[in-house]
Amino acid sequence: MPPGNLIDGRAIAAALQAELKERMRALAARSVVPGLAFVRVGEDPASKVYVGRKEKTCAELGIVSETHVLPENTAEADLLALLDRLNADVRLHGILVQAPLPRHIHQERVYSRVLPEKDVDGFNPVNVGKLMLGDPTGFLPCTPAGIKELLVRSGVKTSGAEVVVLGRGNIVGKPMAAMLCQKEQGANATVTLCHSATRDIAAHCRRADILIGAIGVPEFVKAGMVKPGAVVIDVGVNRVSDPGARGGYRLVGDVAFAEVQPVAGLITPNPGGVGPMTIAMLMHNTVRAAEVAAGKHSQSPN
Ligand code: GUN
Repeated sequence: MPPGNLIDGRAIAAALQAELKERMRALAARSVVPGLAFVRVGEDPASKVYVGRKEKTCAELGIVSETHVLPENTAEADLLALLDRLNADVRLHGILVQAPLPRHIHQERVYSRVLPEKDVDGFNPVNVGKLMLGDPTGFLPCTPAGIKELLVRSGVKTSGAEVVVLGRGNIVGKPMAAMLCQKEQGANATVTLCHSATRDIAAHCRRADILIGAIGVPEFVKAGMVKPGAVVIDVGVNRVSDPGARGGYRLVGDVAFAEVQPVAGLITPNPGGVGPMTIAMLMHNTVRAAEVAAGKHSQSPN
């Protein structure tokens, strides 16, 4: 099949960011400049790249960002104290603590400390709860929200569709399943969440109209696991060693793209699929946080 079945995440993210520029102009007219703080703990190479991309996109849109880099051995109390200062800073509308955190830091305590109204990552338990309840005043986590947006903007019908999500992580798999089973537009699907204890994952996958790989296993989804015509979304970013590549590794997704693409109805390339949408949704959440803070909405549906 020609590459006509690709879902172009970069183009869809660019369209979303163009819409946000309009909202930025409306905010500027009221002297409001959205502000976002990044917090990175340690020197995880992937986290450095991700935060760097997010900073760059902020600059392109005119969102003011600041980045706090703490050493790997930072005490949890010091990180919490920084979050308290950022929570209190009225110039900041959003706070993002990049995961993963060092093992000695209790992740849930950290994400609980970010004020729900500044939690543009959607990781605070208040926002996780609002997602489960279908309450639109919460912030949705950026990667699953970006995938939902990809599906909607690609004209994929989700209502009544069989969706299979591979992976039950808190950042993608679990919130993705919760989002797509809501009784609302762009959702209303029958969702199966598969994980390491699932028996016969391939059989579940073959039933999927929409198959979402967020399992963190290189090229896990093979052609024989995909129903012809299915929509395939690849969230995976996995390092595999490759002595011939720069740095001795290359990045592959959770989907064996070359063999799956001819079977799929639509498929995300990787890179260029989900990744740009994660960043676009972070920008979206930050602009919305600024709008809410400026009192544009008394309630804050998307
Ligand atoms: N690490 C991987 N994805 C994410 C994300 O969406 N937000 C944060 N804070 N960390 C991540």
